[in-house]
Amino acid sequence: MDYSTLAEKAVKAKDVSFPPYSNFHVGAALLTADGKVYQGGNIETSSYSLTICAERTAVFKAFSEGERNFKAIAIASDAPEFCPPCGACRQVMQDLCGDIDIVMINHKKDIKVMKLSQLLPYPFGDKELK
Ligand code: THU
Repeated sequence: MDYSTLAEKAVKAKDVSFPPYSNFHVGAALLTADGKVYQGGNIETSSYSLTICAERTAVFKAFSEGERNFKAIAIASDAPEFCPPCGACRQVMQDLCGDIDIVMINHKKDIKVMKLSQLLPYPFGDKELK
């Protein structure tokens, strides 16, 4: 799957987001190594810190379905700029997805691709726990 198709799925995933407090809609589409796509939107709660980002929704959906090999995640919002993943999501993707491509989409549908290792160059991980 090329990344423009994955990007469209991230844009579409904004429809299932639920951000009643920030009103900042984010959609994510996670591509597995064998070509499946898991979509997610951000979900906010009245206890604001319990909010989950779109990226983690998609990653946890896929992981809980038994997926373990990933290629890329696309992320879209309504902001004019590209929407990079927050620090918490970078850590979760580092631990659960490996060094995947991060595909960011702006409101003009331009695409910017970076490796997770560029966004999180010196990560904490399971090696520190041994
Ligand atoms: N958010 C995401 O879903 N992904 C990001 O990469 C950045 C932030 C959400 C969390 C919250 O619901 C809203 O955007 C505003 O921070």
